[in-house]
Amino acid sequence: MKRTAFAAVSAIALVAGTSAFAGPEAEVLHYWTSGGEAKSVAVLQEEFAANGGTWTDMPVAGGGGDAAMTALRARVLSGNAPTAVQLKGPAIQEWYEEGVLADISNVAEAEGWANVLPASIAAHMQCEGTWCAAPVNVHRVDWIWANAEILEANGITMPTTWDEFNTAADKLMAAGIIPLAHGGQAWQDATVFETVVLGLGGAEFYQQALVDLDPAALTSDTMLASFDQMRKLRGYVDGNFSGRDWNLATAMVMNGEAAFQIMGDWAKGEFLAAGKTPGTDFLCASTPGDGFLYNVDSFAMFDVAGDDKRAGQDLLAKLIVGQNFQKVFNMNKGSIPARDDVDLAAFDSCAHLSAKDMGASSDGGSLMPSYAHGMALRGAQAGAITDVVTAHFNSDMSSADAVKMLADAVANSY
Ligand code: GAL
Repeated sequence: MKRTAFAAVSAIALVAGTSAFAGPEAEVLHYWTSGGEAKSVAVLQEEFAANGGTWTDMPVAGGGGDAAMTALRARVLSGNAPTAVQLKGPAIQEWYEEGVLADISNVAEAEGWANVLPASIAAHMQCEGTWCAAPVNVHRVDWIWANAEILEANGITMPTTWDEFNTAADKLMAAGIIPLAHGGQAWQDATVFETVVLGLGGAEFYQQALVDLDPAALTSDTMLASFDQMRKLRGYVDGNFSGRDWNLATAMVMNGEAAFQIMGDWAKGEFLAAGKTPGTDFLCASTPGDGFLYNVDSFAMFDVAGDDKRAGQDLLAKLIVGQNFQKVFNMNKGSIPARDDVDLAAFDSCAHLSAKDMGASSDGGSLMPSYAHGMALRGAQAGAITDVVTAHFNSDMSSADAVKMLADAVANSY
């Protein structure tokens, strides 16, 4: 009897033991839910499955990722972190400091990430010398997208200064055309605002104001002028802008309901997913002024139990920075690869412009981290700025009051 029981226990243990490692698995929290975004993240899902991985999707809708980050905090606080999370910039450091990130240095070193990632990107992916995130892309934020037919029909060329933009917008208004398609959400207001600050003040001022948070810059005449320009732009949006998702604003330009959208190049992913051709159906140009606002999406792996999940994390990290994913994903997403050795021949003209401008900006010291998309500041400081920007955009607040509110909000955000 005793032997039989032992045999039974051994058999169960053997079965349990062999099923202990079913294969790489990952529950992935991200906020890529629009047409172009979903098509892009499917590239990773398919590659993960093709390599034996089991992907559990955890999409949290909401452009810019605020809702996704709220969901992340809830999961971590309940002791049930996702396996992998779309996380970027200083937020990576904030979560590392909480002691909840996994170390993926083994993958980074085996794959030679240090040799193929620009130093500015690699720095965002490292935590006290270890690798704690895998970079997906380089999105550029400071773009203007335009409906080519509307511009042609109204004799308008892509503006190179904000005065030219305003003149074009006035002409379009007079013709009964919505000049600026915009989604009235705080992160979208912040996106437009940072391009205005860069364009009016230049990269050095952008660094002083929105990265260094220098009080003199935050209360300067240039900041006053930036809020003046935001007030002009508020006059160019349609009456139904409030709460509109960014991709619906992109659709307005795509469908000829509006002329321009100021948005990062994830908007290009929407045009491409709809079969539109850059240079023919839509135009892309940097927002007025010199510089390049970068926004690097990445995935951080959280410290979760189980060999299957840890294998899933290592596989995800390897695939994310792999040549194939870096090419195919970014061709769909509207961004350019994070690694610098991917052949861009198959990419479109907007991507080539982005790569060229990124190189020139890096050489010229005008390659700046996007504050609106979490690359420049920690959450409290970025949120303080965005609260002021969206309050101003959605009221008749004067620029002088906005500037004072901005300096006070930043000072009180620590
Ligand atoms: C950005 C993100 C992009 C895109 C965009 C709209 O913050 O980096 O990948 O998702 O938000 O949601």
